[in-house]
Amino acid sequence: MKHLLSTIKDRRIRLGFIGCGRISNKHFEALEQHTTNIEVVAVCDVIEESAIAAAKKMEANHYTNIQDMLDHEELDIVTIATPNGLHPKHIMQVADAGVHVITEKPMAITLEDGIKVNNYCKEKNVQLFVIHQNRLNDTVQEVWKACTTGRFGKIYMITSNVFWTRPQSYYDVDGDWHGSKDMDGGAFLTQASHYVDLMQWIAGDTQPKSVYANIKTLARNIDTEDSGSAIFEWENGVLGSINMTVLTYPKNYEGSCTIIGEKGTVKIGGVAMNAIEHWEFADQWPNDDAIRQSNYETASVYGFGHVRYYENIISVFMGTKPPLISGDGGLHSLQLLDAIYKSSEKKQPITF
Ligand SMILES: NC(=O)c1ccc[n+]([C@@H]2O[C@H](COP(=O)([O-])OP(=O)(O)OC[C@H]3O[C@@H](n4cnc5c(N)ncnc54)[C@H](O)[C@@H]3O)[C@@H](O)[C@H]2O)c1
Repeated sequence: MKHLLSTIKDRRIRLGFIGCGRISNKHFEALEQHTTNIEVVAVCDVIEESAIAAAKKMEANHYTNIQDMLDHEELDIVTIATPNGLHPKHIMQVADAGVHVITEKPMAITLEDGIKVNNYCKEKNVQLFVIHQNRLNDTVQEVWKACTTGRFGKIYMITSNVFWTRPQSYYDVDGDWHGSKDMDGGAFLTQASHYVDLMQWIAGDTQPKSVYANIKTLARNIDTEDSGSAIFEWENGVLGSINMTVLTYPKNYEGSCTIIGEKGTVKIGGVAMNAIEHWEFADQWPNDDAIRQSNYETASVYGFGHVRYYENIISVFMGTKPPLISGDGGLHSLQLLDAIYKSSEKKQPITF
């Protein structure tokens, strides 16, 4: 990384922020908990009022042009929270300035673009971080511990349901990017990408063997899918399937992941994997009862993972931990998402 531990040790990490829309508030809440280590120096949005409001909140300078911000500020890292389709362009622009990059998911809409920006950041010698903060939910962390300590034995199957609601009015906001092919990419990329990321992570962060998908626009007046199903097989033999829709009546109903292993069965559910619905293993651990109760209320489907995600960024700067999800890691789920779209278009499985 450009900035070595020794240069960051005696001062705070200087962060710039691009895209002061809906999700920026989650970032700002998280960053307000990390003021000892991170200073938000500048924010940028093409909508001046949004930039000014964010700058006021974070006591930062504001810009309406990314290049102006990069030219005028001394930054260590920039977070990108612009519409999906702009991520590759903005990642490369920040990398060109020799500044490390955090991008909101997805890192790109297509696998080709994802590979391109990942390689670009490597060439420019900047670290790329991809946000999939749901990995850090308490419930998911418990599952992860069970995986890494071998409690499941061999994992046979992982299934996920994302039964959410996005009414037509969500897409019809003037100038909004949701539902467009080139800026949104589709509901799998925008709404279900965390679930695809988790499935592949729990399956072993390994190469897929095949993906078969059928996606449809059943009801919404949009260019992308509003519903679909996909089945996966990974190289290590784990099978997976995911059902996703944004047509659930009348509100978000389920965001779940079920893991079936040789010696354990777990379902994390609720509306956004915020509840342990089933927790059963062949062996008993003293904290199993506490884990069964480790549900939390969530006012939004975004969860609380952004705070912990920035903790990891700080650790990487301190040189104490590797990135939780680097560009390489972000490509794993993008590969599956990309195959979902290609399989459905070709009406045949994609094999690797
Ligand atoms: N991790 C999560 O759970 C999560 C949740 C929601 C959204 N997201 C992702 O975050 C990103 C933003 O989503 P959102 O819901 O906040 O969208 P949004 O439309 O509310 O915000 C995007 C902002 O980017 C600004 N913008 C657009 N082009 C710009 C440019 N060239 N320079 C500077 N600013 C520009 C827009 O004016 C807008 O304020 C998307 O990629 C989305 O997929 C992630």
